Amino acid sequence: PGIQGYASVVSGYLDDCTCDVETIDKFNNYRLFPRLQKLLESDYFRYYKVNLRKPCPFWNDINQCGRRDCAVKPCHSDEVPDGIKSASYKYSKEANLLEECEQAERLGAVDESLSEETQKAVLQWTKHDDSSDSFCEVDDIQSPDAEYVDLLLNPERYTGYKGPDAWRIWSVIYEENCFKPQTIQRPLASGQGKHKENTFYSWLEGLCVEKRAFYRLISGLHASINVHLSARYLLQDNWLEKKWGHNVTEFQQRFDGVLTEGEGPRRLKNLYFLYLIELRALSKVLPFFERPDFQLFTGNKVQDVENKELLLEILHEVKSFPLHFDENSFFAGDKNEAHKLKEDFRLHFRNISRIMDCVGCFKCRLWGKLQTQGLGTALKILFSEKLIANMPESGPSYEFQLTRQEIVSLFNAFGRISTSVRELENFRHLLQNVH
Ligand SMILES: *[C@@H]1O[C@H](CO)[C@@H](O)[C@H](O)[C@H]1NC(C)=O
Ligand SMILES: *[C@@H]1O[C@H](CO)[C@@H](O)[C@H](O)[C@H]1NC(C)=O
Repeated sequence: PGIQGYASVVSGYLDDCTCDVETIDKFNNYRLFPRLQKLLESDYFRYYKVNLRKPCPFWNDINQCGRRDCAVKPCHSDEVPDGIKSASYKYSKEANLLEECEQAERLGAVDESLSEETQKAVLQWTKHDDSSDSFCEVDDIQSPDAEYVDLLLNPERYTGYKGPDAWRIWSVIYEENCFKPQTIQRPLASGQGKHKENTFYSWLEGLCVEKRAFYRLISGLHASINVHLSARYLLQDNWLEKKWGHNVTEFQQRFDGVLTEGEGPRRLKNLYFLYLIELRALSKVLPFFERPDFQLFTGNKVQDVENKELLLEILHEVKSFPLHFDENSFFAGDKNEAHKLKEDFRLHFRNISRIMDCVGCFKCRLWGKLQTQGLGTALKILFSEKLIANMPESGPSYEFQLTRQEIVSLFNAFGRISTSVRELENFRHLLQNVH
């Protein structure tokens, strides 16, 4: 039954968009995934600054996770390239001007010494430096608690973090943040009754496309994380060695059509939906990265240039994908209503990013924060009016900004989803051998 249930998942057309799973698989697994992996191994993308010690804003979190596999090893300060650590490099001409201006101030220069151009730039910079576009609660990376983490040395994999604590996080995310009515329980567990499930899905059908999309994004993220945990399962743990690898049983328990009464296939469809949303954001933000003065700055000139070339190559590839999701179908109705809906969407999502501070296991917290920030950045790109208003017709706009944190999380988050899609193919082969 595994194969049947599964095969019906990974074929055919997806809801709310015009593409099919096979096209995405081929495009991702053979064209995008290998290059993306290479990019994410570079210094620029492997070091992520994160504050893992922010207190949970919603309940008292007693961090009860003493498991070794949950530990995150922060970087020694001399491991991280100076170019990344120094705050001096920012991401636009204006920011560079602002930097000049701050330096001038430090040197005791008076205001008159600033050129008119600089003054204007400073004004503009402060004006659009507000967080009104942001879908995420931004980590205070200036905090002494924030540390650089080497993502390659702290891979996302099975940690044993489960049970009531992990359960609580996901249920809070679903129950309180997914625009859902109080009376209908979402079918989190596979063993729950069919009746409840059907009520839930008919409720979901009745939602407007945006609210449904919100739910699907969260479910897709959940599915993606579970694909990783099944693919890097702790298979062997003794004093000789630890071994991580594919656990087909675990995968089936979460995704098999029959075992999950249809829920698993839906989860995987949502994973593809999430993939398409992030893919679309990447194709849209290309002009930002094409700016001549944009650098993936680490201080190593040769590497930085090569990295930018690879990044642009990837983004052009992304742009060539024939079946892009049309985000214009979102927030398209009555202007006031669309505005309110978008604001709701943003607030709900910010809440989810704050909930990540409540995840008890540091390793899971790290990847949870990174992936929500990445998705938040994708949403910021898709729905930013600045970007819509200014690109690409009038050339790259300097009003649209991304921080290094946003860039690193955007690509790493997409890298995780891309890996999940790749892993689905591996599981498909493994399942064929089982039967
Ligand atoms: C695979 O996962 C199942 C739970 O889904 C577990 O019972 C089993 O021990 C795991 N297999 C290995 C080899 O760890
Ligand atoms: C944010 O999350 C908290 C805790 O789950 C909840 O009480 C609050 O209503 C949420 N707000 C929004 C806008 O979702």
